Amino acid sequence: MRMNITPLPSPASCRRPFRDAIAANALLVAVTLLVPTGTAMANADCQGRFQTTVQPIMNTNCVACHQDAAPADGLSLQRTAAPASLIGKESRGSSLPLVTPGNPARSYLYLKILGTHLEAGGTGARMPVGRALAEADIKRISEWISECKAG
Ligand code: HEC
Repeated sequence: MRMNITPLPSPASCRRPFRDAIAANALLVAVTLLVPTGTAMANADCQGRFQTTVQPIMNTNCVACHQDAAPADGLSLQRTAAPASLIGKESRGSSLPLVTPGNPARSYLYLKILGTHLEAGGTGARMPVGRALAEADIKRISEWISECKAG
């Protein structure tokens, strides 16, 4: 009589489910690691774009008064301090933060350079004191704030 013996699975097919499980775990770990990294990158991006597009405007128009050594209104806009001195930081002159990521209309710095800060309950002069920034520079600052992500 012929015995019906099921052949043992070959070592390769035996290992496959194990390998797949490892692959699935590796994917999970990668995804878990990517989530916080993604948030950090949004912030790093925001800082990087500030350095390339906004800092030059600050250097030409603002840093004479808003410098590290004796910052006007306690606000330094020098490269060493900005944009950390702005993002999510309280303003002295209003109840709005200086920069609300993603929202120029809720960013006191933006209202100060537009000259609409008094309507928003702010104080003092339009910035820079005594004149207005070029339209193109105002637009660049607005775009930078809009593109920044919270967190
Ligand atoms: C001539 C000096 C001078 C220049 C140039 C200047 N500021 Fe100011 N800034 C001041 C003074 C003084 C104050 C406080 C009085 C006021 O708000 O008007 C101030 C206040 C501010 C505030 C309010 C800070 C707070 O916490 O409420 C912001 C924002 C600001 N400046 C941004 C800028 C920006 C952006 C520029 C360049 C585009 C600029 N300033 C150029 C002197 C200056």
